[in-house]
This record gives sequence, C-alpha cells and structure tokens, in this order.
Amino acid sequence: MATKTTETSTAASTEAVTDKKLTVGNAKVDENEMKHSSLHKFFVDALKDIYYAEDAIITALEKMQEAATTEELKDAFEDHQLQTKKHISRLEKVFKSINEEPERKKCEAIEGIIKEGEEIIKTTKEGSMTRDAALIIAAQKVEHYEIATYGGLAQLAITMGHDKAADLLERTLQEEEETDHNLTDIAETFINFDAEQED
Ligand SMILES: [Fe+2]
Ligand SMILES: [Fe+2]
Repeated sequence: MATKTTETSTAASTEAVTDKKLTVGNAKVDENEMKHSSLHKFFVDALKDIYYAEDAIITALEKMQEAATTEELKDAFEDHQLQTKKHISRLEKVFKSINEEPERKKCEAIEGIIKEGEEIIKTTKEGSMTRDAALIIAAQKVEHYEIATYGGLAQLAITMGHDKAADLLERTLQEEEETDHNLTDIAETFINFDAEQED
C-alpha cells in the first residue's frame, strides 16, 4: 500500500517536471508572456533588491575595515570590497541578459543587518579583539543574506531557462560562500582565542 503511494507521487512529480520543461521551451517563443508572469516580476524585483544591497555593502565594508583591529581581518574586508564591486557589475549583466534595466530598490533587510554592524563598532573598544570577533559575525550575517538571495535566484534562473543569468548568479554565490568560510577561518586562527582572554 505504502509502495503504491510512493509510486503515484513519483509519477506525479515527473509529470510536473516535464510540464515545466515544456513551459520553459515555450517561454523562449513567447518572451512577452513570460515577462508578465508573477515569477518573472518577483525575480526582477529580487534582483533590484540585491543590486541595492551590494551597493550598501561596499560602504559598510569600508567602515568595518577601518574599525577592525587585526591585519588579516582588515585585508579580508578589503578583498571582499573588491569582489563586491564585481558582484555589482555581474548583476548589471544579469539584468541585461533578461532584457531588463538595472535598478535599485531599497532593501530594508540589509539596512538592518548593516545597522547592527555599526552598533558593534559603537559598543566595542577600539583596538580590541572582541570588536573583531563581533565584526566577523556581523559580516557573516551579510554573507548569509547574500548566499540565501543568490542561491535562490540562481535556482529560479535555471527553472526559467535564463542560463546566462544562472551562471553569473552562481559565480557570485560561490564567492560569497568562500568569503563566509574565510571569515570563519580568520576568527578561529587569529581572533576568538585572544578575544576570550580580554577583560
Ligand atoms: Fe556580494
Ligand atoms: Fe558578500
């Protein structure tokens, strides 16, 4: 009985996938129709949101770099600032690849995460390792927001048949993930232990 239910649901999901593929094929023929779909509108809106966010992140990284104590962390923030500029130009290519104009839409989420980082700078002692430990967590919150966004948008791009956009979004996703891991390494190697020794 249980086996039968599984078979039925597998058959149903295979059918759904086939249907989607057909829709993707047709969408190429009727691009106008696709442009008016709710999913396409959401996709473009989400791109505008992250386009705004990346811009805000550049300024935030600058402040975090100035505030950081450890040279390794300052360097990591500087490197990621350069990468973030690349993310912005990649997003412009994504907009172009789907025949949309690059536009920024205020992203309240990133504003909140960045505000938290500014609060950390205000409430921790200059030159302390505690500040660096806290800054790393603040930066990782930014990365995780980006990872969730790029991961989801890359998958949507694949589903909608936007291969070029998917490729660009996946490249950025990979850099955000590497940055996140790099920050963990810096915390574990240079910062957390010393921060724990502070008053
Ligand atoms: Fe980014
Ligand atoms: Fe990032």
